[in-house]
Amino acid sequence: MSLRLAVIGKTGQLARSLLREGENLGHQIIALDRDALDLTSAPNNIMAAISALPSGLDGLILAAAYTDVDGAESNPDMAYAVNSTAPAAIARACAKHDIPMIHISTDYVFDGEEDQPYGPDADTDPLGVYGASKLDGELAVISSGARALILRTSWVFDGVSKNFLTTMLKLSETKDEISVVDDQIGRPTYAGHLALAVLKAAEGLSEEAEIETGVYHISGSGEEISWAGFAKAIFKATDADILVDEIPTSDYPTAAERPAYSVLNTDSFERTFRHPLPEWQAGLRAALDERDEDA
Ligand SMILES: NC(=O)c1ccc[n+]([C@@H]2O[C@H](COP(=O)([O-])OP(=O)(O)OC[C@H]3O[C@@H](n4cnc5c(N)ncnc54)[C@H](OP(=O)(O)O)[C@@H]3O)[C@@H](O)[C@H]2O)c1
Repeated sequence: MSLRLAVIGKTGQLARSLLREGENLGHQIIALDRDALDLTSAPNNIMAAISALPSGLDGLILAAAYTDVDGAESNPDMAYAVNSTAPAAIARACAKHDIPMIHISTDYVFDGEEDQPYGPDADTDPLGVYGASKLDGELAVISSGARALILRTSWVFDGVSKNFLTTMLKLSETKDEISVVDDQIGRPTYAGHLALAVLKAAEGLSEEAEIETGVYHISGSGEEISWAGFAKAIFKATDADILVDEIPTSDYPTAAERPAYSVLNTDSFERTFRHPLPEWQAGLRAALDERDEDA
């Protein structure tokens, strides 16, 4: 099935992977970068940009966001503009033009007090401005009247962008010991696997099949892991000789508080879209291959 899709975002981890995987699957994708659509623009201008897209689109994927979790604490206006006001305007335009919309959100809408994977209907209670602004965006999209999916994901990485994986690899070039927090538990998600899952959701949403709209969760499958555990897996996979010193979050203060546990339950996504999610370890291998190809 070949889809005609608009992707808001072109340079981010997910947007780049959507473009690559979408092309491989034979979809036609129009991507709008910041120059084509600045998400801090006035809502009317954002709606006008969506209205100017070619008619007959099978879907629109909002892959851009203000993702600086710590920066959001001192830039709440910017975080809310990009993560809430802009998605609201895009969703209103999608409703008006009957474009199915996919909005991407985050595990940081949860407070991390649970010890079992969070389902899409679990109570939200963000700890920081980033999570709160993303939750606001979710609610705005849901109440817009657009035919929309909210796809929450967690701990996204690829092989080339600035992220946890590439930061660890860079540090391993100069250090032989590194301290990483061991009391935040989640599941990493390779951007390429996320993109394939999002595209599968776009297929489902574009068909007139009885896909239930609303919130779904997508992440790497496999074992729950801490950031320190993920770092160890990265160094093992790359044969890097570096010691990981496991530290508590209290020894690594950051501007934003993060959930101690934010594993997402992905069952309803996998069942509804008939798309088993690969283990994050496979994603790690794929990201390292991507890195080699890029070198
Ligand atoms: N990264 C994670 O660990 C993570 C975890 C959970 C959920 N998510 C969600 O997953 C989605 C994709 O994240 P990602 O990791 O792909 O993000 P990313 O790599 O940080 O990229 C963010 C993208 O948003 C664009 N952007 C930021 N401000 C903008 C503005 N004012 N106008 C237009 N574009 C703007 C950036 O463009 P420029 O290049 O021009 O700055 C960039 O393309 C987001 O919704 C995010 O909230 C991410």
